[in-house]
Amino acid sequence: MDSRAALITGGSSGIGLAIARALGQDGYGITLSARRPDKLEEAAKGLADEGIDVNAVAANVTEEDDIKGVVDSHRERFGRLDVLVNNAGIGIGAPVADTPTKKLDIQLDVNLRGVYITARECIPLLKEAGAEHGKALMLNTASIAGKHGQGWLAAYSATKFGVVGLSQALHKELSGDGIQVTAICPGFVDTAMTDWVQGVEREDMIQPQDIAEGVRFLLRTSRACIVPEIQFIRPGDDTL
Ligand SMILES: NC(=O)c1ccc[n+]([C@@H]2O[C@H](COP(=O)([O-])OP(=O)(O)OC[C@H]3O[C@@H](n4cnc5c(N)ncnc54)[C@H](OP(=O)(O)O)[C@@H]3O)[C@@H](O)[C@H]2O)c1
Repeated sequence: MDSRAALITGGSSGIGLAIARALGQDGYGITLSARRPDKLEEAAKGLADEGIDVNAVAANVTEEDDIKGVVDSHRERFGRLDVLVNNAGIGIGAPVADTPTKKLDIQLDVNLRGVYITARECIPLLKEAGAEHGKALMLNTASIAGKHGQGWLAAYSATKFGVVGLSQALHKELSGDGIQVTAICPGFVDTAMTDWVQGVEREDMIQPQDIAEGVRFLLRTSRACIVPEIQFIRPGDDTL
């Protein structure tokens, strides 16, 4: 049995997969979750081939029963949860005037409702870890678009502001139980989500491994040190 375990949503690529790899390298048992089973299995196999103890569970975070299934599977496999990475997210760019309600609803469902429900379902296990060692971590992936409203990404921005607010509220509820809640707020990261971006070279984007190093930093701070938020900014970014 691993001495530490983490559950990562949106773990089949990009930021989530980089965090999974880093935590796996650091000895965590990993539950890796994402929506599409084939992509998830491929990512999980890659981690397992590197010697990481990984449990892959396909789940759509818009489905409450799917979320409960992931948490149940994680509990059965590892029996403990030290780190939750609430990371599944989507972004759909369009002006508000041209955005059909369906595209608003899917972003609210995945980026905000999914994060809320996953957080809620994981609180009992995180409290157990917090009681044991005083440094359980809930990491919620927001965005720099959750700090500064972004035109043509209004629904996405609104959901990510919501994630920052939810993280602050959860901190108030959980920090007394040895659980640190941190919102991470990156600018452009070199993942599939930024394939649409023109005018910024991939090597000029933040790398998924940069975010993973941020998670390592959070876990190395003492239990007396809370880091409520990390912004990851590119050089010259004017959103500070
Ligand atoms: N890339 C950036 O510039 C950037 C900047 C700031 C914040 N973020 C945030 O970072 C997080 C990860 O994004 P990424 O950049 O790493 O992109 P990514 O590589 O596209 O990863 C997104 C992950 O979320 C999963 N996912 C999407 N919809 C889901 C659903 N309904 N249920 C469960 N899983 C779902 C995807 O799996 P499937 O493919 O199977 O759906 C995938 O594993 C997101 O929350 C995003 O908003 C990204």
